[in-house]
Amino acid sequence: MNFESLLFEADGEIAIVTINRPEKLNALNETVISELDACFEDLASDESVRGVIITGAGSKAFVAGADISQFPTLTRDDAVAFAKKGQHVFSRIEKMPKPVVAAVNGFALGGGCELALACHLRVASTHAQFGQPEVGLGVIPGYGGTQRLPRVVGRGIATEMILTGKPVSAERAYEIGLVNRVSEPEDLLEAAKQVTRSMTSKAPIAIAHALKAIRESDGPLADGLIEEARLFGDSFDTEDMQEGVSAFLERRKPEFRGR
Ligand code: COA
Repeated sequence: MNFESLLFEADGEIAIVTINRPEKLNALNETVISELDACFEDLASDESVRGVIITGAGSKAFVAGADISQFPTLTRDDAVAFAKKGQHVFSRIEKMPKPVVAAVNGFALGGGCELALACHLRVASTHAQFGQPEVGLGVIPGYGGTQRLPRVVGRGIATEMILTGKPVSAERAYEIGLVNRVSEPEDLLEAAKQVTRSMTSKAPIAIAHALKAIRESDGPLADGLIEEARLFGDSFDTEDMQEGVSAFLERRKPEFRGR
């Protein structure tokens, strides 16, 4: 895959996507947003890819937000369209049928925090910072922050983060459940690979079903339980389920094929 503002690398079954505008702290301009859209559309259907890591180029920032230089010329309608475009791309990431892990290597502010929230798991370096500083610019988060942050850390802490705009450290992010792991900066990518591998080694269809069922927890419990039972049933139609159960009974390692 060839992009202007993204770097793409494969490590076995893991795709590593790097947002590559370090001179602008990887701020999300139109090109980055469009390229993320195209990249994740391809990755969703690429059967050789079982997990994705997304990170930022350089040692300073994961993503320092939407590109603020685009804001001054936007009309109200432009701004709505701008938010919807970003939301569409981040929802595509959230709906990926394979695990997407954010390796947060520095500032994750505004759209950067929202991008990390759209990923399924977050691994942060010790010097990462997470925040939604938009109200300091006279706007609010527009790429899903007001919806996903409360769902991940609870409404009280999310409200404080969004209304004060004050960033939190990696350590605090871990305490509030915003990140799953914290690692030294030099070990971040390996830590992200390790956590990704611990999922890609499992049955791919079961992983896709689990991700879908977990997403249903955004809605009413009764609906989520119906969907869970349906997806549980679907997994009994897979070869991988036969393989997983046989391997357990035969005391050997399963070989999943994603079928
Ligand atoms: N949009 C556009 N450009 C951005 C940006 C953003 N969100 N964040 C950083 N940049 C650019 C800066 O303008 C600067 O460009 P320049 O060298 O051409 O002037 C470059 O990235 C480096 O940033 P700088 O501010 O000089 O680095 P710093 O170390 O002093 O500060 C931050 C780092 C992250 C604290 C600061 O860049 C910042 O507050 N960024 C905006 C965060 C934000 O409000 N995001 C939400 C947007 S809705």
